[in-house]
Amino acid sequence: MEEKQLVNLLETLTVEEKIGQLIQLSGDFFNTDAMAVGPVQKLGIDPHMVQLTGSVLNVLGADQVIRIQQHHLEHSRHKIPLLFMADIVYGYKTVFPIPLALGCSWNPGLVKACNELTAKEACAAGAHVTFAPMVDVVRDARWGRCMESTGEDTYLNSVFAKAMVEGFQGDFTPGSSLASCVKHYAAYGAPEGGREYNTVDMSERRLREEYLPPYKAAVEAGCALVMTAFNTVDEIPATANGWLMDEVLRREWGFDGVLITDYAAIAELVAHGVAEDDKAAARLAMEAGVDIDMKTACYANQLQPLLEEGTISLKKLDEAVLRVLKLKNKLGLFEDPFRGASPAREQELKGSADSLSLSRQAAAESLVLLQNLNSALPLQPGKKIALIGPYADSKELNGLWAVYGDKDQVVTVKSAFQEILEPQLFKSTQGCEMLDSYEGLGSFGYLTQADKRLETDEQRAAELEQAVALAKWADVVIFAMGEHTLQSGEAGSRTDLSLPGIQTAFMEQVLPWAKESVLLLFNGRPLVLTDIKDKVDAILECWFPGTEGGHAIADLLTGAVNPSGRLTMSFPYAAGQVPVYYNSFNTGRPSKTSTHSLRFTSRYLDCPNEPLYPFGYGLSYHTAEYSHLRLSSTVLRPGEVIEAEIEVQNTSGTSGDEVVQLYIRDLVGSVVRPVKELRDFRKLHLQAGEQRKISFSITEEQLKFHTKDMKYAAEEGNFELYIGNQSDNCLMAAFSFER
Ligand code: GLC
Repeated sequence: MEEKQLVNLLETLTVEEKIGQLIQLSGDFFNTDAMAVGPVQKLGIDPHMVQLTGSVLNVLGADQVIRIQQHHLEHSRHKIPLLFMADIVYGYKTVFPIPLALGCSWNPGLVKACNELTAKEACAAGAHVTFAPMVDVVRDARWGRCMESTGEDTYLNSVFAKAMVEGFQGDFTPGSSLASCVKHYAAYGAPEGGREYNTVDMSERRLREEYLPPYKAAVEAGCALVMTAFNTVDEIPATANGWLMDEVLRREWGFDGVLITDYAAIAELVAHGVAEDDKAAARLAMEAGVDIDMKTACYANQLQPLLEEGTISLKKLDEAVLRVLKLKNKLGLFEDPFRGASPAREQELKGSADSLSLSRQAAAESLVLLQNLNSALPLQPGKKIALIGPYADSKELNGLWAVYGDKDQVVTVKSAFQEILEPQLFKSTQGCEMLDSYEGLGSFGYLTQADKRLETDEQRAAELEQAVALAKWADVVIFAMGEHTLQSGEAGSRTDLSLPGIQTAFMEQVLPWAKESVLLLFNGRPLVLTDIKDKVDAILECWFPGTEGGHAIADLLTGAVNPSGRLTMSFPYAAGQVPVYYNSFNTGRPSKTSTHSLRFTSRYLDCPNEPLYPFGYGLSYHTAEYSHLRLSSTVLRPGEVIEAEIEVQNTSGTSGDEVVQLYIRDLVGSVVRPVKELRDFRKLHLQAGEQRKISFSITEEQLKFHTKDMKYAAEEGNFELYIGNQSDNCLMAAFSFER
């Protein structure tokens, strides 16, 4: 439809029909063709507004989408199709690793391909919009939603934000592209205390410098929607924050897409204490520029009275409605309201060879080898293997936000090993329960976690006895341990970041019998491994690896694949260190270089400043040497480029991937500057013994920051350039920037 036709359509709508386009309701309002009295009463929405609703939340499946769309169009005067929006964050039926794992692949092209495949699967199921990517920068492992982010670094999250949006949206072709809704705008990843939904408060400089760029990258990549965050920014809830929504997002960045709130966020303005009631909340959100009200009755019940009393203008309403109509038009819904929804296609794509092989590759590149003492890995052929733990044969490998994941497709670690090892060389048992207690975990909508409970002391004793017997029998004991799915993700904040106590206690009873031991970790956040790491030979961080997790883990443990994952979020030495991250400020009393006596420097009495495992860290089965860092010049001027070249050699007999990371430090600025900042990287494959020269281009753009007068600019002065295989292991070269 041409834009002028959209305007004409808008002009034919009644005020109520216009308001209806700004309402989003969940599936329970549409499960039957009859009015869903219960949900209507519970939400307090005026019943006739339900029929005028413009979009549906988290309802997918071709049959269901087609039925609901047909019913809606048959009973709609204006024949404007519904938008179907859902949380398709890291996979639809085929589930990829959680984003915190995908980030560790340092492979944006791969992640883009995962999202392209996801978009095809989800389109067949009737999806139009995905509430993804989540690009929140996160430095606090206590926050459960680490798992949804690609980590602590602004630059890397921006690179992945672009790739993820492009993967989902492509060229908006019906049937293979989803409109992408970047979230959660803004800075949801920095709640005080790491406590979910808690206050976020930081300077505008930190917000602009460290937290906003990934959302901007998504907008520049063309994401069609932005979701407002639950939290405050500058003590104003994001959903009512006109500066954030209008000044920054729309005027500075030129975003002209749809702004949707997070779940019930408009009504929550009352709890925040900036609105006395729903009417005031609706006014604040509309004034801030919010288009769609997700799952409250505020817009539905209050916009008409606000219009009638002149508190909000019809112009403002029309602008919001036109943005929603433009989105529907861009998706081609006026031409085809079903947009590729097809039960047959849905079935055809499910578990396709392409999707499974991509899921396996993505998982293999996302796993991070944290420790490998005594060359415990890769496993040597012919060794007797005992796989023990609650994750040994668990299909719960998808993580919390795999809302539509097909758990039946998940390959467990046990089944993967059974495919490749002779029965006489492989035994497995659960060993212990996941948690001491499941109290307080609550539930999470769709999630049905199949916890294998050991109800009695006899059962527990028998499992322990079996585990000890297997440990005695085996040459290598592989422990499959980790967090419960509900211990991370939304509303999954924790203050204790160690493995569940029941698991470490169990391991200590079995380890004395283990000749060699490997720990597989399944978790949605950096854990504190300081104690456990000294009790095992090898540690492989598996995150929640998705549908093909078992195969990918077996591929790495057997050496079929050489680990290449590198951490994108620091693993703290202790929970008390958090937030801990690599690109911190030097402070006036840096513990290693201050002239003050040690006590009076920036440090803890009981813990190092550094994390246990830093940003960029990860081991491989090969070794590599970085040498001969050279700069084409030691002076950079505006418009010029310095070429930084380094030699990387695979000094082993095993081919493998290296993630060459480039960091820059601005030694003196008009404001303090981080001790280093990631500015570029290359992932490259090196044959055994292969040596390669890698070159990076350094320009003024990479030196820019928000200066003292809040200009985004580079300042003259001295810089250090670091290149290495992790943030704290680099070669350094100095250069200056002069105008
Ligand atoms: C949730 C999440 C958000 C999600 C939305 C819809 O509360 O915060 O990430 O997209 O609601 O399910």
